[in-house]
Amino acid sequence: MLRRILPSCVAVAECRGDAPEAALYPEEAALISTAAEARRREFTTVRHCARRAMRELGLRAAPVLPSRHGAPRWPDQVVGSLTHCPGYRGGALARSRDITLLGIDAEPHRPLPDGVLDAIALPGERRLVRARLARRGEVCWDRLLFSAKESVYKAWNPYTGQRLEFEDASIAFDPDAGTFTAHLLAPRPRLPAGAPPAPDLLEGRWLVREDVVLTAIAVPAPR
Ligand SMILES: CC(C)(COP(=O)(O)OP(=O)(O)OC[C@H]1O[C@@H](n2cnc3c(N)ncnc32)[C@H](O)[C@@H]1OP(=O)(O)O)[C@@H](O)C(=O)NCCC(=O)NCCS
Repeated sequence: MLRRILPSCVAVAECRGDAPEAALYPEEAALISTAAEARRREFTTVRHCARRAMRELGLRAAPVLPSRHGAPRWPDQVVGSLTHCPGYRGGALARSRDITLLGIDAEPHRPLPDGVLDAIALPGERRLVRARLARRGEVCWDRLLFSAKESVYKAWNPYTGQRLEFEDASIAFDPDAGTFTAHLLAPRPRLPAGAPPAPDLLEGRWLVREDVVLTAIAVPAPR
């Protein structure tokens, strides 16, 4: 699924269930020693996916530990993103010479619980989602909007260090092309000298397969 919505320079790996052969490094295991079984399984399998993607990129497998805001820390000059939801785990990694921002998100393909759309959508997004649900109800557009915003955050936060609220990005889907755009509405972040500026607009792709909604954003490095 990820291969269909990310450029070929991005290494991807995914699982629909848990991988029995997946194992953790001691420093990873220490992070979830008191976690519930379901959390331990998603944490372990998604790291198995990350290491498959590392090898595909030509990197040695290594621990994947969280940074300040919870984003996975990658080797120098590498960007990446992880996601898990019931029945799906996935990882995507790229060299920063190819991709500067990378975010992926998987969600169960089910309507959002009552009240959540109102909490996460801007007024225009809410109107569009409700209109689409009425016309093309085979896609849970509310869940897709949520996933797109999570992908925005996962791409944006590691690059800029900025936290975003749900109203800080305005998402518009192309329902036929399987694409979306995200306009960033938050104040511009201050980046380290020499870093390519964070874009005002992110372009992503989306996909629904059976019980899973997947969104991905990969911003090409400036040439
Ligand atoms: C962090 C967050 C985006 C994770 O998304 P989620 O749908 O709950 O969970 P997923 O399973 O898809 O992804 C979890 C993985 O995201 C990654 N992640 C966590 N924090 C992250 C961050 N700040 N930046 C990038 N990736 C992050 C981690 O790898 C995590 O897995 P791990 O803990 O096993 O390593 C979400 O919990 C959150 O805090 N959202 C609020 C912020 C937001 O989305 N604002 C909207 C902006 S428009």
